[in-house]
Order: sequence, then structure tokens, then C-alpha cells
Amino acid sequence: MMQKVVLTGDRPSGKLHLGHYVGSLLNRIQLQAEETYQSYVMIADTQALTDNFERPEKITESVFDIMRDYLAVGIDPERTTIFIQSQVPELAELTVYYLNFVTLSRLERNPTVKTELAQKGFETSIPVGFLCYPVSQTADITAFKTELVPVGEDQLPLIEQSNEIVRRFNRTYNTDILKEATPLVSKTGRLVGIDGRAKASKSLNNAIFLSDSPEDIRTKVFAMFTDPNHVRVSDPGRVEGNVVFTYLDAFHTDFEEVAALKARYQHGGLGDTAIKEILNATLQTLLEPIRERRQTFTHKELCDILQTSTHAARRVAQQTLEEVRNTIGLRYFD
Ligand code: TRP
Repeated sequence: MMQKVVLTGDRPSGKLHLGHYVGSLLNRIQLQAEETYQSYVMIADTQALTDNFERPEKITESVFDIMRDYLAVGIDPERTTIFIQSQVPELAELTVYYLNFVTLSRLERNPTVKTELAQKGFETSIPVGFLCYPVSQTADITAFKTELVPVGEDQLPLIEQSNEIVRRFNRTYNTDILKEATPLVSKTGRLVGIDGRAKASKSLNNAIFLSDSPEDIRTKVFAMFTDPNHVRVSDPGRVEGNVVFTYLDAFHTDFEEVAALKARYQHGGLGDTAIKEILNATLQTLLEPIRERRQTFTHKELCDILQTSTHAARRVAQQTLEEVRNTIGLRYFD
């Protein structure tokens, strides 16, 4: 049976949080269980370096944290090839060939890149490595003949860019060896931060991490943004934009109970402390086994798994690179 290749990646710049859990990890666990898919998960350390090259230890340390998070939530190395980007040098060589198929202005116009350039204050002095990361991402995708890329909304321009490079390459060399990929946008969307801001993220310090202690979880739940006009317990409260309810929607297992809580809250008579206690209990139950499982792997075990599966990924990338070189005609000695 021909399996479809599914590839996802994470930049290792900190531990994974609940936003990753609902936005991508659950999805990956589901996909890896399906026989028709072959799953790859890439730890994108090379890409993470493009905006952290002055602090490489931040990246290299996160690689193992993230690997621990993956295994703890149930990404199974028997079913999913988890590999480290920088340890597959074929990706770098593919990037060099693909750079010919994209213009400077096209990269600068990429909406994802544009937003990031502004966020990082790079506009007046753009590091070329950063600007070109979409090309390197094209190498990640094509090296494994990826058909499906489950991503967040913000990654869509990168997949589009990748497919554009694929089409140009194929047209130029009159071939079809490179495959276009289809993005699969997560239905859940992104999880808001505990402060109610658009996105839970490490840099905004508004995320609950999979590895947070019970005390940290509780503190963060009790710091959550609710409804500023809900002053007394008896006041009617707002559910929309209320982070506690957003998280209950995402993580509470009993849909009807959440609906009943919402009705009571809107009516008046349900306090913030009460709903926060319920959310706290929900999250403690979810995260306790994950936190405990995180501790069961030794550093050596993580290392061994990563080394074996990176080696397997490398063999696939070598094969594609060989085809690409042959297609261009870069073959002199045999
Ligand atoms: N750009 C992705 C992110 O920031 C990470 C990534 C790198 C990726 N290479 C990829 C995602 C290939 C999907 C496919 O989350």
C-alpha cells in the first residue's frame, strides 16, 4: 500500500504548551494511528537558529525538552519518525538548489515572513538566513515527498511558497520528481493565552506548559482573564472572550456540563473562583499523567531514539537529493 507522507515541524525555542497540544499534537497522534499515513515530525533547529543564532544553546536545550513532550503526550517513535533538522544536511543542499527558484521580492512579500520581520524589528537590516527560511522549509517538505502538511493558519503562505518552488523546479527541468503538498489547517485554531491575547506563547509568558507543576497550573488558571464587569457572584457574566470558558471548551471532557456552567454564569450566580476551580481540576487531570511520563525517559533514551530516527529520515532525504542532483545534471563521476 502506498502511504501518504505527513510532515509537521516545530521550532525548538522552549517547551511545548497547551496551545501546541490542541493545535497540533492531538492531530499528530490521530494521524500516526492511521495506516494510510506515514508520519514525520521534524524538530526544526536550523530554522529556529535563523532568529536565535546568537543564543544557540536556547535551541539545542529545547530539542530535548520538546522530544520529552512528544513522547509524553503519545507521539510514538515506532509510528512517527521524529528527527532533527540540522542532522539531515541533505536539507541544506536542497535549499541551495531551490534558492534559484525564488526572488528576493517574493520572499519579502510573504505575509508570514513580513509579520515576523516586523515583530523582530528586522525591517531595516534583514538577515538573509531568516529571509530564506521559507526556502529551507521547502526542502523539509519535498525531501520526504510530503503530501500533507498539518499546520496553523499562519503557515499557509509558506506552503504556497513551497508549492511555487516545486512547480518552477519541475517546469524548468521538465520533471515531476518534486511533489506539491496540501496544507491541512487545524480545526481548533489557535489557543488564546491566559491573558486573553490572541496567542498562547512562551515569549508572551501567557501559556500553560505541558511540564508545568501543579502549583504553576493553579496559579496560571487563577490569573486568567475572565469578564472584568463580572464583579459580584450574583452579576451576570460574559462567556465570550472569557478565557476560562475558552479553555473549558477546549479541554473539559463533558460538553453538556460546560454548557450548563455557561448558562449559570451568564444568568448570574456563578463566581469566577468556582469556574476556575473546575478548570484547574480539568487541567490537573489532563497534565498529571503527561508530566509524570515526561520523567520516565532518560536523556540517553531520548538521544538513542532521535539518533535512530534521524538516521532513517536521512536515508529518505539522501534518495530525494540524489534524484534532484541527477535531474539538474549534477553528475560527473559515474
Ligand atoms: N515554520 C514552522 C513553524 O514555525 C516549523 C517548520 C519548519 C515546518 N519546517 C516545516 C512546519 C515543515 C511544517 C513543515 O511552526
